[in-house]
Amino acid sequence: MLTQDQLKQAVAKQALSHIRQHLIQDAIIGIGTGSTADFFIDALAEHRHAFRGAVASSERSAKRLAMHGIRVFDLNEVDELAVYVDGADEINAKLEMIKGGGGALTREKIVASASHHFVCIVDESKVVDNLGAFPLPIEVLAISKEVVSRQLYQLGATEVIERKDFLTDNGHPILDVKGLKIEDAARLEAQINDIPGVVTCGLFAIRPATVALVGTQEGVKIIGQTADPRYA
Ligand code: 5RP
Repeated sequence: MLTQDQLKQAVAKQALSHIRQHLIQDAIIGIGTGSTADFFIDALAEHRHAFRGAVASSERSAKRLAMHGIRVFDLNEVDELAVYVDGADEINAKLEMIKGGGGALTREKIVASASHHFVCIVDESKVVDNLGAFPLPIEVLAISKEVVSRQLYQLGATEVIERKDFLTDNGHPILDVKGLKIEDAARLEAQINDIPGVVTCGLFAIRPATVALVGTQEGVKIIGQTADPRYA
């Protein structure tokens, strides 16, 4: 029986062969945040001379990339990224996700938005029928914590908890929200984005992943394989 970390490591390694066509001299790769992304960075390190560098979605990932000798670019220096690789806290069959358990949701959403393909790498515990058992992280401006919380209760939240002793890389607090019914994830994402004071909502549904690689006890499975033959 493989542990959760072994499943994360297996899927991170598999992601390397999944993006092999991007490991070319000019390529800059978008990198997510979290323990699964860390395993991916470690696997990528062996190929550091094959591609140009990376854009990181957090200070944590930037440090790890640099430690491995991978050049880290600022997103402003880069036109577009061919591919973005990141984990998730939950993912459904439509490849909609909840992200932000590690608090990097804003930069993750930005770097993902600059990338043509979003390759989500998760262990099987993250795959769900319905999003929402994992509390939804929402990054907010500090002055708006209360006003945003009240609106979230109106949307059906049962509990809104400020993440303790935590500020994001952007210097903002995170509200972890329980009890929301996530039936139309893209609609709810847009509704939450519209609340003044919200920086980023941890729903990634308006722009879901392109493909998910899932580490299971039976091997790595692919959900939502894109029709793009380069990704076969
Ligand atoms: C960080 C994230 C991570 O992708 C998510 O929390 C999954 O983390 P892990 O790979 O450690 O399970 O969204 O903001």
